[in-house]
Amino acid sequence: MIIIEKMTLSDYELIKDCLTEEFDEFWKPSILKSELENELSRYIVAKDGGEIVGFAGVIILPDDAEITNIVTKKTMRKKGIGKLLLAKLIEITKQENKDEISLEVNEINEPAISLYSSFGFEIVGRRKKYYNRLNDAIIMTKKLV
Ligand SMILES: CC(C)(COP(=O)(O)OP(=O)(O)OC[C@H]1O[C@@H](n2cnc3c(N)ncnc32)[C@H](O)[C@@H]1OP(=O)(O)O)[C@@H](O)C(=O)NCCC(=O)NCCS
Repeated sequence: MIIIEKMTLSDYELIKDCLTEEFDEFWKPSILKSELENELSRYIVAKDGGEIVGFAGVIILPDDAEITNIVTKKTMRKKGIGKLLLAKLIEITKQENKDEISLEVNEINEPAISLYSSFGFEIVGRRKKYYNRLNDAIIMTKKLV
């Protein structure tokens, strides 16, 4: 059974050496660590029998909240873990009394765009050639009230 809980520095220590290879090449361990230590961030992990199989984070800003990261371990994708993580980030953001949650995603990232769309996120903008001066960033938001 998959459980979702708050991500701790011990969780980070368990995945930092395999982060790039087993989760997602985009996220460097040092960036994740500083995100975890940021008091505005809320990070969660998905665990399957104690093994970390995904993690995600949202940063709570004065006016809204932004999803900074949502990643499922490569070998565990397409099993519903992304949905569990996203649902929990939305719940956390609602508890913080925010009206809206937003994120940026690479226009070629079909799995993520499909996941966000299925939760009611809508495309509200675009940053041209944001990723490697090649692909646009799509800005998506979901109203929470
Ligand atoms: C995006 C990501 C987190 C999805 O995680 P996941 O655990 O595989 O997602 P789920 O199994 O919960 O699937 C949820 C929905 O996502 C979409 N989805 C997931 N994988 C997909 C794929 N390969 N192609 C198209 N849609 C996909 C579908 O809408 C799916 O719903 P469905 O199963 O009812 O069709 C995962 O692909 C990942 O870690 N990608 C790399 C990191 C990343 O790009 N994060 C987003 C940064 S903005």
